[in-house]
Amino acid sequence: MLNFAKQIALDAGTLLVQRLGSARVSNKGDIDLVTEADIAAEKLIIDQIRSYYPRHSVLAEESGEAISIGGDGSSWKWVIDPLDGTTNYAHGYPCFCVSIGLEHNGVLELGVVYDPMRDEMFAAERGQGATLNDRRIRVSDVEELNSAMLVTGFPYNVRERPDFAREFAIFTMNAQAVRRDGSAAIDLAYVACGRFDGFWEDGLNPWDMAAGILLIEEAGGRVTNFQDEPLSIYTKKVLATNGLVHEAMLRLLAS
Ligand code: IPD
Ligand code: CA
Ligand code: CA
Repeated sequence: MLNFAKQIALDAGTLLVQRLGSARVSNKGDIDLVTEADIAAEKLIIDQIRSYYPRHSVLAEESGEAISIGGDGSSWKWVIDPLDGTTNYAHGYPCFCVSIGLEHNGVLELGVVYDPMRDEMFAAERGQGATLNDRRIRVSDVEELNSAMLVTGFPYNVRERPDFAREFAIFTMNAQAVRRDGSAAIDLAYVACGRFDGFWEDGLNPWDMAAGILLIEEAGGRVTNFQDEPLSIYTKKVLATNGLVHEAMLRLLAS
């Protein structure tokens, strides 16, 4: 199933690149966009799942609530973001990806994040480790926040939630650097391969994080909520790190 997930992520990513710059954009909310490419990539992915795994269910961003294509009660659930980084995509900023996770009885079993602009395929299977283009990846070994490069994201209702600016300021004053790239799935994949040392965000959806969380766990990192409790993909607040800077980040989030 991992090879199947990689193939559909690759196909969807190729579609995104083909339509970059020409996909029509519309508004889901005040600043929340959707493009024709989100819809087309999601359809491609769901059509493939429907043909190969007709009894599985699907939770996909643009289709809304979980759509059960195989009838209720399927133990397998695909959790899909066909285009993570839609605002970047709509502006032609080349930081976006396809994110696909698969749960079995509520436990994440595999995840892939594909960045079609760099042709980077991040993949993980529970108990089997994480890879980038088939080479094993691990989280970084940075221990001090002062030497750490962190990343975060802002949800679409950021204008009503000024605490984001406070957290951003606190981490900026305590870390080596803080970035905001606009694609949570890429942020998480980059923690998994050591490009970033830690990520925090309040307001994520299951499809933003399903694949990325498994990538980090399989790459030796740590993922919790802001209270250091185990994370489910239905939790909004996510702290994901190399494990070594986790406590320091928890302390700052609580300050
Ligand atoms: C968004 C991106 C962004 C994050 C938002 C997400 P979308 O997903 O992952 O980085 O800050 O919370 O909603 O809408 O581009 O798929
Ligand atoms: Ca997303
Ligand atoms: Ca999306």
